[in-house]
Amino acid sequence: MAPLSKTHKLNTGDEIPAVGLGTWQSKPGQVEKAVEAALRAGYTHIDTAYAYGNEKEVGQGIKASGVPREKIWLTTKLDNDWHKHVAEAIDTSLKNLDTPYVDLYLMHWPASLVKGNTKEVYNDWDFVDTWREMQKLVDTGKVKNIGVSNFGVKNLEKLLSAESTKIVPAVNQIELHPGNPSPHLVEYLRSKGIHASAYSPLGSSDSPLYKLNSLTKLAESKGKTVQQVLLRWGVQKGWSVLSKSVTEERIKANIDLEGWSLTDEEIAQIDEVHKENSFKVCGDDWLPVKIFFGAGDSD
Ligand SMILES: NC(=O)c1ccc[n+]([C@@H]2O[C@H](COP(=O)([O-])OP(=O)(O)OC[C@H]3O[C@@H](n4cnc5c(N)ncnc54)[C@H](OP(=O)(O)O)[C@@H]3O)[C@@H](O)[C@H]2O)c1
Repeated sequence: MAPLSKTHKLNTGDEIPAVGLGTWQSKPGQVEKAVEAALRAGYTHIDTAYAYGNEKEVGQGIKASGVPREKIWLTTKLDNDWHKHVAEAIDTSLKNLDTPYVDLYLMHWPASLVKGNTKEVYNDWDFVDTWREMQKLVDTGKVKNIGVSNFGVKNLEKLLSAESTKIVPAVNQIELHPGNPSPHLVEYLRSKGIHASAYSPLGSSDSPLYKLNSLTKLAESKGKTVQQVLLRWGVQKGWSVLSKSVTEERIKANIDLEGWSLTDEEIAQIDEVHKENSFKVCGDDWLPVKIFFGAGDSD
């Protein structure tokens, strides 16, 4: 087994490992073991969020692995109803994770929800104000990089054109898989020097991608699993891919991506998948504010 050691360069000069372990929807009690197994298997990148309620377990998994903290890229996220409390939010996450810093701190959604009432948005505060506060964290040493998540083009344009925006986000973490490849948003990010990090890269729980004939045949011809092909496709697109698993064998297989690649033709074939099998895992209907505006492209 050969864990992929590839990284992608961010606009800050830092290198984000191309494969990370996702932790959303991992049940309590499973996360610590998954993180430990991943780090022992050669992962150097863990993705969590305050909203997942598992930061403490992630911290425990890191400790249990014995891998030194400085060898690990750790991402966590500011939750929606903490937008007016950025300084307090990062301190809470760092305490949960039992670490002095995170490598990447993301605004989880461009949605500033009222503290204690997540059915309402503030009328005197939005994500531009939140970003202004997040920028202050960089000088504290508590965060190495700051970025956003679930931002489409329209909201990014608003953020980047704001007078208070001095730092271009290093990363936009968005849903990216062959059923939702978002080519316009991805091209926009490239043009602004913002790295795209792919969440739900396998299509999430009960993924419809695993049974697609075109993908199973391709995987078979390469002697790989469909999941490996999906992840390799994302890495070759220039994204970091954040696959979640709590199953040790799958965790190991999902980073076994070194020493082989997809050809340009194979990439182009996977690029076609969304034409027949378009789907999105994370919408905005659970939020009191609309954040996705357009034609299946998350913007
Ligand atoms: N920023 C955001 O708003 C946001 C939103 C969604 C997700 N995320 C991040 O992205 C991560 C990944 O997204 P996701 O959790 O939605 O889905 P995903 O990684 O696309 O898929 C996870 C599912 O695939 C299964 N799986 C993993 N490897 C497999 C393999 N080799 N063979 C068969 N099944 C396999 C997992 O099962 P088992 O675990 O049972 O093995 C799980 O059911 C999240 O965990 C989170 O860290 C961020």
